[in-house]
Amino acid sequence: MDKRETVNLGNNERRLLSAMLSKPSKQWTLEELLSITGWTDQVHVAGAGKALEGEGLVEVEESRITLISLGEQGSKALADGLLESRLWEWISNQSTESRNMDELLSSGFDRSETGPGIGVLKGLGVSIVSGSFVAGDEDEVSESIRRRTEFIHSLEPGYLDSSKLDSELVEHFSSRGGLIEMEESVTRTWKLTDSGSKVEEDSLSETQLIGELTPESLQTESWGGAEFKPFDVKAPAPIPSGGRRHPMQALIERIRSVFLEMGFSEIEGDFVQSAGWNMDALFIPQSHPARTMQDTFYLSDPEIIDVDSNFLDLWAKVHEHGHDTGSRGWGGSFDKSESQKALLRTHTTVNTIRHIAENPGTPSRVFGIGRVFRQETIDRTHMPEFHQIEGIIHEPDASLPMLISTLKTFYAKMGYPDVRVRPAYFPYTEPSAEIEILWRGEWLELGGSGIFRPEVTEPLGTEWPVCAWGMGLERLAMLILGLDDIRQLYQPDLEILRGMPLL
Ligand code: PHE
Repeated sequence: MDKRETVNLGNNERRLLSAMLSKPSKQWTLEELLSITGWTDQVHVAGAGKALEGEGLVEVEESRITLISLGEQGSKALADGLLESRLWEWISNQSTESRNMDELLSSGFDRSETGPGIGVLKGLGVSIVSGSFVAGDEDEVSESIRRRTEFIHSLEPGYLDSSKLDSELVEHFSSRGGLIEMEESVTRTWKLTDSGSKVEEDSLSETQLIGELTPESLQTESWGGAEFKPFDVKAPAPIPSGGRRHPMQALIERIRSVFLEMGFSEIEGDFVQSAGWNMDALFIPQSHPARTMQDTFYLSDPEIIDVDSNFLDLWAKVHEHGHDTGSRGWGGSFDKSESQKALLRTHTTVNTIRHIAENPGTPSRVFGIGRVFRQETIDRTHMPEFHQIEGIIHEPDASLPMLISTLKTFYAKMGYPDVRVRPAYFPYTEPSAEIEILWRGEWLELGGSGIFRPEVTEPLGTEWPVCAWGMGLERLAMLILGLDDIRQLYQPDLEILRGMPLL
């Protein structure tokens, strides 16, 4: 190893390395390294050792040991003697006649001690014969107790490595409550590797290493003799968490740019609409279950929204008998006051329909991404507020194949090339189709589509066909972001939001 390779070492590494070079083949303990380097904090040894290990100069060996120390009962035993020792002393001092249970119980030993104490004595070979204590070999009992006492005393200084202690006694005391405590601990030793032991001592003089040049340090001469710390571009660094768009907003923007790039223009509309525009214009029968208060949020302020009477008249005729659309309508009688009820829009189809009503003679391709409201119980896949991606192609040659290829193009651009449509039903389209995309081998339904019925388009003033679709945004977001709970999209948890993929 030549001098060039030690240039990168910091001063702590230099100090540790040159200390270890005093005995190049020694396996050093923490205490030894602390004393030879003069450091008081083991963090320096650990840190410099790790850095030297990274340079291949030092080998760190870890071993796990069990440390034994005195427990609460152990410290008491240290002061008062072990229970068996006290009992045995009492027994030994009695005359043969009074070496019995009755005497023991009246001798002043606590009740809580005599029971367990007799158990311990039995373990030492003392038995009770007709109430009297009898030992097979008294010297052996005394000797066992002496060794146990010695063991407890040996623990007085503090934590001891269990492997250096009598394993039988460790096992014995560990099965008795509170006498000793055991604790796992990792110890490390440090040793020079081959290349570590070849480092030349004189390349290790401690220098001033400059990590950062500041205008202040340049004004003094101090940097003249210093060495510069090289830049480690691979060093771990904190991940900067600058601002980013909310994933939902980012997705909306991506969808927007896909439709814009496909030649569509964006439209918007109000959350508050009349039932007439939200439903009657779409030929949704006034008795339809989705129109009830259980499904739709009707408003009390405003309660009523004025609707152009021309439209009210037209919808009434279409609903009652089909008017001149070729349809027979739904029959019954149409309630114009029902049409004027104010509600929170239940789908964004209300926007596209109104767009046609305002521009009946102008071909158009428009889309909108907006919030809709339905009375849903919140769960993993439902929320009372969610978003739809809506769109129409309104032009003389609009057709079903055009609708399907448009949706396929859209999803392909979003990263889902496998799209299929399946027959479906909506009161306002014929034919109607459900759009499904292939996701991890499964077909998932993402929305509805179809060609608006004449009952819808004719009152609006157009005879051109209209391709229409309305798709769920949250469903798509869950696929793209890999979520399985719709609520995760709206929880203000920055940690989770930062971890979501960039779109
Ligand atoms: N409005 C329908 C819904 O909310 C979707 C749809 C839009 C279906 C346009 C057909 C045509 O699910």
